[in-house]
Amino acid sequence: MLRSLVLVLAAASVWAKPLLEKRWDDLEVKHAWVETPRGWTYTQAAPAEHKMEMRIGLKQNRLDDLINSLYQVSDPAHERYGQHLSKEQVEELVKPHPDSVDLVEQWLEHHGIQVADTHRSGGGDWVKLIVTVDQAERMLGTKYNVYQHESTSETVVRTLSYSLPSVLHAHIQVITPTTYFGTIKSMKATSFRETGLPTVDKDDFQNELASLGSLATVPSSCSSTITPSCLRALYNTSSYTPQATSTNQLGVAGYLGEYATHSDLQTFLQKFRSDAAGADFTVVQVNGGGNDQSNPGTEANLDIQYTESISYPTPNIYYSTGGSPPYISDSETTSNTNEPYLDWLNYILNQTSVPQTFTTSYGDDEQTVPIDYATSVCNLYAQLGARGSSILFSSGDFGVGGGQCTSNDGTDTVKFQPIFPASCPYVTSVGGTYKVNPEVAVDFSSGGFSNYFARPSYQSSAVSTFLTSLGSSYSDMYNSSGRGFPDVSAQGRNFQVVIDGSTSGVSGTSASSPTFAGVVTLLNDYRIASGKAPLGFLNPWLYGTGVDGLNDITSGSNPGCDTDGFTARAGWDPVTGLGTPDFGKLQALL
Ligand SMILES: *[C@@H]1O[C@H](CO)[C@@H](O)[C@H](O)[C@H]1NC(C)=O
Ligand SMILES: *[C@@H]1O[C@H](CO)[C@@H](O)[C@H](O)[C@H]1NC(C)=O
Ligand SMILES: *[C@@H]1O[C@H](CO)[C@@H](O)[C@H](O)[C@H]1NC(C)=O
Repeated sequence: MLRSLVLVLAAASVWAKPLLEKRWDDLEVKHAWVETPRGWTYTQAAPAEHKMEMRIGLKQNRLDDLINSLYQVSDPAHERYGQHLSKEQVEELVKPHPDSVDLVEQWLEHHGIQVADTHRSGGGDWVKLIVTVDQAERMLGTKYNVYQHESTSETVVRTLSYSLPSVLHAHIQVITPTTYFGTIKSMKATSFRETGLPTVDKDDFQNELASLGSLATVPSSCSSTITPSCLRALYNTSSYTPQATSTNQLGVAGYLGEYATHSDLQTFLQKFRSDAAGADFTVVQVNGGGNDQSNPGTEANLDIQYTESISYPTPNIYYSTGGSPPYISDSETTSNTNEPYLDWLNYILNQTSVPQTFTTSYGDDEQTVPIDYATSVCNLYAQLGARGSSILFSSGDFGVGGGQCTSNDGTDTVKFQPIFPASCPYVTSVGGTYKVNPEVAVDFSSGGFSNYFARPSYQSSAVSTFLTSLGSSYSDMYNSSGRGFPDVSAQGRNFQVVIDGSTSGVSGTSASSPTFAGVVTLLNDYRIASGKAPLGFLNPWLYGTGVDGLNDITSGSNPGCDTDGFTARAGWDPVTGLGTPDFGKLQALL
């Protein structure tokens, strides 16, 4: 009797609410870690009233169309080659389905959030709102905690898992901040200062280059110290004079609170490329990014000094992305999600015109980036590529993997560790070389195969050839169906960089990416000056006809994870990709 009364009451309460609301309680895990991400320590539960900026990434209804368009406009053999999309055209393709918008709005309203208080991106695929920790915990069926980074001491509010009503899984790609712990300060720059290697404080070859336009041979000193003349001779750019400097631009994406300084650039140019002295870069501050000229960054100065000295007189832009403190326990300030990539990508995609070439010198172990987050970021690079930008990323400085290389899935198996965003199939990732006559793969050059992104068709033949020659070596250490990286390479050891007035040696694929980007900028200049579209997303061209303009690197290897790593060989390899650029030959192929 009592029992059936309870049942009747329970049934009545279901009846009393609209049927729709019931679904919001049916939570299903969206992403979960089995352990706290390495390098972070739990400190306390997050206070319920603490406010955060939440971003909801909606599934893009016509993502397949976007990716097809990206490939078509980037494929020299396709009739749409070079017909890059406008901001509006891209936004049309990334719009969420109207049902997705409806459902997400109903869900937000159910949690007391007014749609009018939210902000949407141009395409409507990203929704930004302010929530309290308490609200976020109820929406996502989770607990937020404060975690501290062991080496930077930075604190963030994140969670180890989050859920969504099952009905929303088909409509939402990612929610931040949740399980992605990477921050602007904790991410890895792919450069490091050399201590035991020689430095030079002048460039003996620049005058010869300036008067003759080229050198008969690449100076042998370039085997131990890299200056702009080395790269201009080695990559055959020195006889080209840019013409399209009122249109063409090169962008350097900077993070880590790193600033490029104008005074160090002047000192650098006077020492190493005096014909370019006086050339300067502009700074765009994104999302509270700083520009402290008294605090030069190694990475930032390396990037800008080498992009300028190769692409001169093309305008260079340094993007300084914030930046605000992620979490202050006794503050009313809303904590910024402070996640790298998203802030910058949302900013740049909202511009009507964007630089034709970008370089970024950061990357983290792919396994530390949740797959839903990595996929969202990778798709944003696809948008930028479809708009006509060539996007270069350093491949990383960890060989096939730094440290122990244990997986973080709870099994602790040793696996090679691919680097993201270098593993995203919509960027061009740049590995490292050293020495000259011939160039050799440098041992720290990261390369391997993604566990998140499948091998794209543009590289299927090049990568299969490599895998066939590799045979069964390392077969349990890497994912043979994944996207292989890097795509290309360039010098990466002992670049002479001026930091705070004096010259130091800096190494890393952080040096390789701006170098390759400088060469691509000159190619874009040539295309634009000939009345053509810029190159845009490079890979379909590079793996197709472009490969003939690259110097294949066939020796050296990238040890890591207690193994000898992969070995560079003829054709593509996961150490140096397809090889290093020869501007003259690449230009002739356009
Ligand atoms: C995009 O740019 C417009 C115009 O500059 C600005 O009003 C808007 O707030 C920006 N939107 C986002 C999402 O940043
Ligand atoms: C291997 O890569 C594919 C994508 O190509 C992915 O679907 C699969 O989950 C990966 N396997 C492992 C064990 O990570
Ligand atoms: C440099 O480019 C020119 C075309 O501008 C080409 O003829 C020459 O072979 C290239 N030099 C080298 C060393 O590859």
